Amino acid sequence: MLKIELLAKHHDREAFRCSEQDLDEYLKKTARQHNEKGISRTFILVDSDEPKKILGFFTLTSCEVITTALPERYAKKYPSRAPAAKLARLAVSIDFQRRGFGKIMMVEAMRRTLAVSENIGIIGFFVDAKNKSAREYYEQFGFVSLPSNPLSLFLPLSTLAVALQRAG
Ligand SMILES: CC(C)(COP(=O)(O)OP(=O)(O)OC[C@H]1O[C@@H](n2cnc3c(N)ncnc32)[C@H](O)[C@@H]1OP(=O)(O)O)[C@@H](O)C(=O)NCCC(=O)NCCS
Repeated sequence: MLKIELLAKHHDREAFRCSEQDLDEYLKKTARQHNEKGISRTFILVDSDEPKKILGFFTLTSCEVITTALPERYAKKYPSRAPAAKLARLAVSIDFQRRGFGKIMMVEAMRRTLAVSENIGIIGFFVDAKNKSAREYYEQFGFVSLPSNPLSLFLPLSTLAVALQRAG
């Protein structure tokens, strides 16, 4: 059975490879330190039959948004700076890509973001895509590009809630 859990010492970080070396390095060298310092939270997708093996991971953190950078219809709703959640990393092991594991983690990240919004107040969910292909991946979930930088994407809370309802 697939499970999502907070990154811990027993997870085999050394063996993880996706197609982006900086993401592999982040998982190996930085993610646990940042968990411990409270800078971000990295969650791991595992199969309970092989609980050490990392199938994928995602990292959540908070950020401050300069709201004038948002698409106009959102920009006018908010003060000039506002808090938000950020998907700081997302990766699936090279051997397990395109089996829906990215989607499972995205839905979990969105659920966690909604829970944060209900407890501390944030305007939405942000991600910086590495390239056009990653941007297209995020657009499937309702993320929209910022006008000044199409690789920076924003998922408004209202869209996030609807997307989660659809995901069931
Ligand atoms: C991007 C990534 C997280 C997607 O996870 P995944 O488990 O492979 O993708 P899913 O199975 O959830 O979804 C796949 C579907 O999304 C769509 N898609 C659009 N852009 C895509 C992309 N860049 N990569 C994979 N799928 C993409 C496809 O339609 C695909 O469906 P198909 O297999 O029927 O063609 C994963 O491929 C990965 O880790 N890539 C390397 C690291 C990376 O680029 N991370 C994002 C950094 S910003």
